[in-house]
Amino acid sequence: MIKHTPPMGWNSWNTYGPNINEKLIKETADAMVDTGLLAAGYEYLVIDDCWSERQRDENGRIVPSKEKFPNGMKAVADYVHSKGLKFGMYSCAGNYTCAVYPGSFEFEFIDAATFAEWGVDYLKYDYCFRPYWQKGHILYKRMGHALANCGRDILFSACSWGVDETHKWIKETGAHMWRSTGDIVDTWKSIKELALKQVELQPYNGQGCFNDMDMLVVGMYGKGNVALDGCTDEEYRTHFSLWAFLNSPLMIGCDVRNMSDATKEILTNRDIIALNQDPAGRQPYLADNNTNIMTWVKSLEGGDIAIGFFNLTDNNQCPWIPFDNFGINRSANKALQLTNLWTGEDIGVYKDIYRAPVMLPHTCMVLRGKLVDAK
Ligand code: GAL
Repeated sequence: MIKHTPPMGWNSWNTYGPNINEKLIKETADAMVDTGLLAAGYEYLVIDDCWSERQRDENGRIVPSKEKFPNGMKAVADYVHSKGLKFGMYSCAGNYTCAVYPGSFEFEFIDAATFAEWGVDYLKYDYCFRPYWQKGHILYKRMGHALANCGRDILFSACSWGVDETHKWIKETGAHMWRSTGDIVDTWKSIKELALKQVELQPYNGQGCFNDMDMLVVGMYGKGNVALDGCTDEEYRTHFSLWAFLNSPLMIGCDVRNMSDATKEILTNRDIIALNQDPAGRQPYLADNNTNIMTWVKSLEGGDIAIGFFNLTDNNQCPWIPFDNFGINRSANKALQLTNLWTGEDIGVYKDIYRAPVMLPHTCMVLRGKLVDAK
């Protein structure tokens, strides 16, 4: 499998942590279809940690929790598939998962075969309780080989939190995405920290193996497993826009059975999602001299140019961007016809420079520009 665009879906961890079961997963599958999330591109439903028994069976096979998943995982996978979704699961490169359930170390081929048998389409692979004498790249290569030979196309989602210089070796392992950050929590501070950390790691992002900035906290509002203070809708909008602009996988983490209208509107903004899923898959880059504001630019399929202003500061800002910062010089005699992707508004044709109106703290402005002849 080659992934040309960042994977999109839902993962159980952010809201539910260990409190997962068959009923919840089925209801989530229903909600992903009924609320239009699947239609917007969110196709993977992923069960994170805490789904198994604490012990393997006598044949060394991992066993789903009898209490949480009484009908086994094949039944869950079948249900998820029947809704037109793909099914994801979780394991770990160490002896145990982070919540101390059996990990796949020394069981890589058995586990990959089991996942294939159940109909798994996606494996998130964590990094806790790993043997310290073994290098990280070998641990991920072991599972990479097992998945590549299991007879089923399974997306490999590596989760070593960017430690041990993951960026230098992860593309060798067969991973389709890799966690380039530590764990997100539902606060503005966490969103900002993860975004800043991506600046130096962005050159390692690319088609086939995407930098994963961790699951989204949009719509959690301070409730659930990784909830702390919660964020405002404006902050969630900025968070979503950043993850989308930076080509991160978009894995929803809130309770999709009970989304607010604002949450639904943020998560299903097709123009923002289109930036994330742009077929050209170009790397975004920072394009400003203005240190108060993060200004990302990205070239899009068909010649359009995306510009994102992100006010991560606690003050009002008035950003601007000279077009020669991204290679459109005066001599080209071209202008940009700009659309604001959150309001849908055509904001006019600009030559050489665009100056944004006042931006409140923690807000963003995401523009799509079409190159036109200057008048
Ligand atoms: C962490 C991982 C989280 C979640 C958790 C489960 O290591 O980064 O995303 O999977 O383990 O225990």
